[in-house]
Amino acid sequence: MRFPELRLRRLRRTPAIRRLFDAPPPPPAKFVWPVFVVEGEGRCEPIAAMPGQSRLSVDELVRALEPVASQGIGGVLLFGQTEGEKDAGGSGAFDERGVVQRAVPAIKRAFPDLVVMTDVCLCAYTAHGHCGPLDRQGQVDNDAAVGLLARVAVSHAAAGADVVAPSAMMDGQVQAIRAALDENAFDQTLLMAYSTKFASSMYGPFRDAENSAPSAGDRKGYQASYGNLRAALRESDFDEDEGADILMVKPALFYLDVLARLRERTELPLAAYNVSGEYSMLIAAAERGWGDLRAMARESLMALDRAGADLLLSYWAPRYREIFGA
Ligand code: PBG
Ligand code: ZN
Repeated sequence: MRFPELRLRRLRRTPAIRRLFDAPPPPPAKFVWPVFVVEGEGRCEPIAAMPGQSRLSVDELVRALEPVASQGIGGVLLFGQTEGEKDAGGSGAFDERGVVQRAVPAIKRAFPDLVVMTDVCLCAYTAHGHCGPLDRQGQVDNDAAVGLLARVAVSHAAAGADVVAPSAMMDGQVQAIRAALDENAFDQTLLMAYSTKFASSMYGPFRDAENSAPSAGDRKGYQASYGNLRAALRESDFDEDEGADILMVKPALFYLDVLARLRERTELPLAAYNVSGEYSMLIAAAERGWGDLRAMARESLMALDRAGADLLLSYWAPRYREIFGA
């Protein structure tokens, strides 16, 4: 059949007809809110580059999670930072009295049904801001970093984290972390690999929030190159082989093709990390009157769902009801 007998607009003539065929929005349980935890009490410091997000002390974080949990959001992803000494190896990251290690049990106590995930990296704790210690040439020492990352992951699991999420992009980090968890009897702790994580210019607002920008150089020697799709896909293949329970694509919106490709390639659950730059650019556009914020947020999150993400790591999570509500 052809036009004029065939008319595609019939299927979208009225809101009621469109509603019959449109995919529903991803439910709140698929969302995970990334949050920034700081030392002290009563601290709630707005992050200039990420309007609506703040650095929170543990007590304020628990308070902020009330409306998030009540919307049925699936979980939180914790990023810690220290005001203590930063050293060459980022040892503050596995301090058992660190903010992440204290935040995990506090959240589990207040919200037993919220899945608590922790970012496992060293960059917020190293003096130079790289994701592992440096060798004599000034490159990140892969194998030394892996040993330290395993200690961080075990300290988070010991605190009660449901999921540990290594983001350093070191070779062998997933295998080493799984082995260390199992040795320490944390065989039920899930491992979500930041498996295909690109060296991206969309992390700027986050590095401001976390104080984790490298003081010299960049992360191109360890994070994936967006110019090399095959190598980027292999990163996820390797992490699956090494025993990851969940894979991830990060950033998400600029990499929907990668998400869709991985969706066809693996049966593992797939997470999409809707990063800080992707969040803040919509807000900046809306502030200039160049788009409706709620509609832009909704459309971008529907795209991640459509591309095949099972889990949406997004700073929009606390605003779920506002974005998707009737
Ligand atoms: C650090 C880390 C980064 C993000 C998550 N973990 C920044 C980086 O790699 O420089 C980015 C998150 C975001 O931009 O929202 N390993
Ligand atoms: Zn890092």
